[in-house]
Amino acid sequence: MSTPSLLILPGDGIGPEVMAEVRKIVDWFGKKRDLAFDVSEDLVGGAAYDAHGAPLSDATMARAQEADAVLLGAVGGPKYDDLDFSVKPERGLLRLRKEMDLFANLRPAQCFDALADFSSLKRDVVAGLDIMIVRELTSGIYFGEPRGIVQEGNERVGVNTQRYTESEIDRVARAAFELARRRGNKVCSMEKANVMESGILWREVVTKVHAESYPDVELSHMYADAGAMQLCRAPKQFDVIVTDNLFGDILSDCAAMLTGSLGMLPSASLGAPMANGRPKALYEPVHGSAPDIAGQGKANPIACILSFAMALRYSFDKGEEADRLERAVEAVLAQGARTPDLMGPEGGAPISTTEMGDAVLDALDASL
Ligand code: NAD
Ligand code: IPM
Ligand code: MN
Repeated sequence: MSTPSLLILPGDGIGPEVMAEVRKIVDWFGKKRDLAFDVSEDLVGGAAYDAHGAPLSDATMARAQEADAVLLGAVGGPKYDDLDFSVKPERGLLRLRKEMDLFANLRPAQCFDALADFSSLKRDVVAGLDIMIVRELTSGIYFGEPRGIVQEGNERVGVNTQRYTESEIDRVARAAFELARRRGNKVCSMEKANVMESGILWREVVTKVHAESYPDVELSHMYADAGAMQLCRAPKQFDVIVTDNLFGDILSDCAAMLTGSLGMLPSASLGAPMANGRPKALYEPVHGSAPDIAGQGKANPIACILSFAMALRYSFDKGEEADRLERAVEAVLAQGARTPDLMGPEGGAPISTTEMGDAVLDALDASL
């Protein structure tokens, strides 16, 4: 097989800082595990706007379509706040997701034992947590038409439309049930069928997919607002949560805090299988460009590092190497390495982004 290609899009703010650590880890797998990647880098978000006047050039879009996997840092920042909506950094990321048809966004939230005391919730509530949020990523209110800001009489109206087709719900539900079979065999579907027609259809289709193809998996339904409450009250009741684009965005930031920090949460955005049987895929941390800490060496690179572990697992069929990387992260945390976001109330001396990357490399060396 030819060397698999990996397109790296560091983006803005802390994106390039955390991605520099991932580059070291990608190189480590090439040198020490004979797992070479054909790595190339390109621009996305504000960085692409500065260079080309657009948050994603057509050339970069084409390269992303060709790559075996794409790894993205983060986009956005205050410098771009006043840009026209059509060229905002976030539009670049949304274009990648939409045109690559990455409909299933896997957002695992795992609480490493060493961090159980750093969550804002009690240790007992989060220790041992291992849940997977499957967020629909290419439809819903993020993309529905009509949309815009329109004049109605003497005032303006902001319009967005929540819209889901049966096939869009069907395919993300299947992704969730498939994952559940390889985990705790439970799916909880979240919508607001009590107030939204799209929620009624969502519940109907998930129920049908379950009955027809996955009766062996335990299925429950919850209104998304109650789901948010349950995520904070007793998150370990969940295994896989499947939900729409907007609820998934919000619930996954909420789940991030169960693990100790938003800087810990990786994600995989997966589409349909390509000719080689692998899914189209983009790997991205759940966090953003963190303008408040950008350029200060304070960013936690673990979310981005764990996103690369997900790439090893879902794009390159290297589950054991993904486990190795995840265990290295766990070991580093157990040894007490902490970026500032992971400092508990008792304080201590935090390490920098680069030092955290180096510590993971040392732990990888120790795993051989
Ligand atoms: P954010 O995720 O960037 O930051 C929220 C808070 O979490 C900040 O206090 C930040 O310092 C902290 N944080 C985030 N990642 C961290 C890390 N790796 N290590 C340590 N601390 C971390 O969210 P925001 O402030 O709401 O958004 C900032 C910009 O990022 C906006 O332009 C937004 O649109 C964009 N954004 C991009 C993505 C993405 O590229 N996938 C995701 C979310 C937000
Ligand atoms: C995320 C982000 C994005 C989203 C933005 C930056 C487009 O918040 O990936 O969670 O809303 O999907
Ligand atoms: Mn988000």
